[in-house]
Amino acid sequence: RTLLRSELPNAEILVVSNREPYIHNDDDGQIALQRPASGLVTALEPIMRACGGTWVAHGSGSADRLTVDENDHIQVPPEAPTYTLRRIWLSEEEQDGYYFGLANEGLWPLCHIAFVRPVFRSSDWEHYVAVNRKFADAVVAECKTTNPTVLIQDYHFALLPAMIREKLPDATIITFWHIPWPNPEVFSICPWKEELLSGLLGSSILGFHTQFHCLNFLESVDRFLECHIDRERSNVRAGNATTLVRPYPISIEWPPLALAGQPPVPECRKRILERYGLKPSVRLAVGVERFDYTKGIADRFRAVGSLLERHPEWIERFTLVQVAAPTRSRLEAYRDTQVEAQNQADAINNRFGTDNWKPIILVPTHHEPDEVFTLFRAADICLVSSLHDGMNLVAKEFVAARDDEDGVLILSTFAGASRELHEALIVNPYDIQAMGEALADGLSMPAEQRRDRMRLMREIVGEHNIYFWAGRMLLDASRIRKRSNLERQIA
Ligand code: G6P
Repeated sequence: RTLLRSELPNAEILVVSNREPYIHNDDDGQIALQRPASGLVTALEPIMRACGGTWVAHGSGSADRLTVDENDHIQVPPEAPTYTLRRIWLSEEEQDGYYFGLANEGLWPLCHIAFVRPVFRSSDWEHYVAVNRKFADAVVAECKTTNPTVLIQDYHFALLPAMIREKLPDATIITFWHIPWPNPEVFSICPWKEELLSGLLGSSILGFHTQFHCLNFLESVDRFLECHIDRERSNVRAGNATTLVRPYPISIEWPPLALAGQPPVPECRKRILERYGLKPSVRLAVGVERFDYTKGIADRFRAVGSLLERHPEWIERFTLVQVAAPTRSRLEAYRDTQVEAQNQADAINNRFGTDNWKPIILVPTHHEPDEVFTLFRAADICLVSSLHDGMNLVAKEFVAARDDEDGVLILSTFAGASRELHEALIVNPYDIQAMGEALADGLSMPAEQRRDRMRLMREIVGEHNIYFWAGRMLLDASRIRKRSNLERQIA
């Protein structure tokens, strides 16, 4: 946090993302606030609380228009405002084309290896360009200075960096791509690959979670654009502009806000077991995600089946509680994912369940951060079986929730988090039997080993927290600024 402040003396900060940090819904004439299920929001919100500034995002709640002031601004967080939220309103056609279409039917499956075919429609692309332009205009209008620091988030805004650069040449533009970047062959599927690359190269810094995704990006630039790539310095020069391309593994606030006010672990466990009608002796695994096909939810249910088949001693003694927030449900691939997971849970419950016990409890509803943390604290095991994931902050949140230094994390090797959390039980989610064995190992792991593993993971997440993430990017940005000032003076 100190690094953050020292790198931002009097700087004007703007964050841009599609998802807003607080959704205002209309609940019978009253405003009901919701914290969205989004790793991006989990990560960025503490930064904005610490730095202040303006967050520009798509207004998505049913009560949004009731809450704006005359400048379309709202001060947040509601209990103790420290920054401004500027909502951008989109028509249904804009949302269909830009968000559901190009971003989530095109770029999302393009960037994740989940074997869902990307769909690219020209009409979606036109909306994507227009919405990026709309956000660029809003950012420029919000700026009070000519050299703000703009933090652009994710695959919804690949064109925004160049659009802002055109209007504000002295801005420091830091773009973070929260999802994987595919290899050039896969990327070439996208009909607008050159436009996306040129748009992103409007950034001063372009961040990914892993070195691997940075290399994929550099290879894509090499293959499809005419510009100079300096692999040693990890940057791309196009005309006069240079973009530093580096890995900045994202993280969470430490300690997380949602941990404050949590009851002790035994109390959390009691509450959760009672809530789901489970016997006090039952060992509990939890999964928490959006209902997304990249998360491998049905696969982890199959792993529970494998555990019970190969280790029947766990019948009636183990339950997986899976919380899955509905997401992007207008898209068929997402509806299919829900149906597949539900069918899989039913099949396993029918096969192994008894009169008063079910191995899988699927709760397909949104949960607020406090509830999620209680669940994490109640669990013996947290199971993260993503088929592909940029980082996966659920894994880091589970670690942060366990100040009792207990609990086992089972983590997919295809989540960026596995590059940092080596003390998790690392699994291949496509290998169902091995995932079942990891569950068995986790359930029988001695307490001392659980503590030693958890301690190490807590050290890593505590140290490499979200302030460290933002601090490193801002430090790199400030070095770039100082260097170019010096170069200008010398010239
Ligand atoms: C991923 C994306 C975020 C997005 C989140 C939730 O983490 O990287 O940009 O906000 O999913 O998805 P949604 O479409 O509901 O915002």
